[in-house]
Amino acid sequence: MHIMPLLLPRWLCRDSSYYSAISDLTLLAQQRIDSFQYHNDFIYWLTPHGRRFLKACKVAHDHTDQVIRECKEALKDEKEWEKIQKRRHLDFLDILLGAKDDGGVELSDADLQAEVDTFMFEGHDTTTSGIAWFLYCMARYPEHQNHCREEVQEILGDQDSIQWGDLGKMSYLTMCIKESLRLYPPVPQVYRQLSKPVSFVDGRSLPAGKSSDFVSSQTSSPPFTSMGSCHHP
Ligand code: HEM
Repeated sequence: MHIMPLLLPRWLCRDSSYYSAISDLTLLAQQRIDSFQYHNDFIYWLTPHGRRFLKACKVAHDHTDQVIRECKEALKDEKEWEKIQKRRHLDFLDILLGAKDDGGVELSDADLQAEVDTFMFEGHDTTTSGIAWFLYCMARYPEHQNHCREEVQEILGDQDSIQWGDLGKMSYLTMCIKESLRLYPPVPQVYRQLSKPVSFVDGRSLPAGKSSDFVSSQTSSPPFTSMGSCHHP
């Protein structure tokens, strides 16, 4: 709940080009995986899809680069740095910029950019699609929506804001969020390259070096409509 405010303040107030670039990259990456002829780098970079991918990459990298530059500029001012150090919650980029290894060496610009790219993508794309699909589920199944509302109202009483301690009491709401994440996972697939061969119980195996694709399950448990018996992940 408090993760996004740590990330967003400096990064939110921009035009939408970063978000469009991420949306393009997500779509193009999936299309590339699905099209065998695109697996070869040389061929892919010559295609219109490949060129669009490179363009979107540049937009995304330019954005994170600008965020890092602005942050570094602000931190040159010692007073500003002291003020930041005193804050109860440091924002993610401030932590990275202040981080040093045992020998006192700071992160290189390339390391910083890699971290910021990962967190900025992971931080906004997953949560926005997770929230959007959860709202869709609530709209589609009003009986569960009512149940969630009643639960939250009962826990809040006359409080006008939610505290950390309240979250653990919202068990029905939590089940609905988890069920929505199961049905519409923001990260539907993850990939791994096998460092050693893997054998399965049915006798089949995969050799080392092979890339594997794990698809999140959407079908093995009761669907949202039977929430009464919904699974507890
Ligand atoms: C509903 C929200 C989210 C979902 C469903 C989600 C899901 C995932 C999944 C499935 C992975 C593993 C990917 C893999 O093993 O290949 C992952 C990794 C990661 N997530 Fe999230 N995530 C969410 C929110 C966030 C947020 C808010 C942040 C940061 C602000 C974040 C940062 C990361 C990072 C840094 C990694 C590791 C990436 C790597 O090592 O390559 N995630 N996430």
